[in-house]
Amino acid sequence: MDGNGRWAQGKGLPRIEGHRRGVTSVRKIVEECTRLGIGQLTLYCLSSENWKRPKHELSMLMTLLEQFVIEERAEIMRQNIRFSTIGRRDGLTDSVLAEIQKTIDLSSSNDGMKLCLALNYGSRGEIVDAVKQIAADAQAGKIAVEDISEATIDEHLYTAGSDDPDLVIRTAGEMRVSNFLLWQISYAEFWVTQKCWPDFREPDLHTAIRDFASRDRRYGGLNEPTTSP
Ligand code: IPE
Ligand code: MG
Repeated sequence: MDGNGRWAQGKGLPRIEGHRRGVTSVRKIVEECTRLGIGQLTLYCLSSENWKRPKHELSMLMTLLEQFVIEERAEIMRQNIRFSTIGRRDGLTDSVLAEIQKTIDLSSSNDGMKLCLALNYGSRGEIVDAVKQIAADAQAGKIAVEDISEATIDEHLYTAGSDDPDLVIRTAGEMRVSNFLLWQISYAEFWVTQKCWPDFREPDLHTAIRDFASRDRRYGGLNEPTTSP
């Protein structure tokens, strides 16, 4: 979700107004994804690199996040959403963490769409954490080095148990991955729009999905019927 700041600056508003309006986009897109029967939606809310931002912006983001988790709890339940987060906990305030935990617990037996917020998330850090855990398991004799496979790594990422994303939508025209789910998006389709996140609405989501549906996904193989040599 990129371009909140640019959206606000373009209108002569403080950056925080872009973040506020971005929350409205989140509400609308979450509800539309539920309605469309999307299995899983991950929103990149705060990267591990975002801590470089000014303190006041970060504290406003924390406040918005806490408000969102509290105010959306009823909606999450109404939409039968299973809520989760990925990322490191450090840097998030105790009250944000407590509100997040409440929503995770409350929604844990919902079986509709999985909604995951990436908070203080960085993919390289996630891979480091996974490697540490696997190395510790190997040292403790719980796993043999020769048994380490792609599945082992999958199971040690924050996203363990989730499917890999099929589609990555990037707003505000940026053509980079920005440390997002590097392992998991190996075969995801990319869709980039010039629109800033606060302007991203249901019709844009529909365009992205329609475009995705027309992609020819070969996963490195061929689509032609194979003929014997
Ligand atoms: C995305 O908007 C929201 C967060 C990273 C929290 P930005 O704040 O990155 O907006 P731009 O890139 O400055 O326009
Ligand atoms: Mg940005």
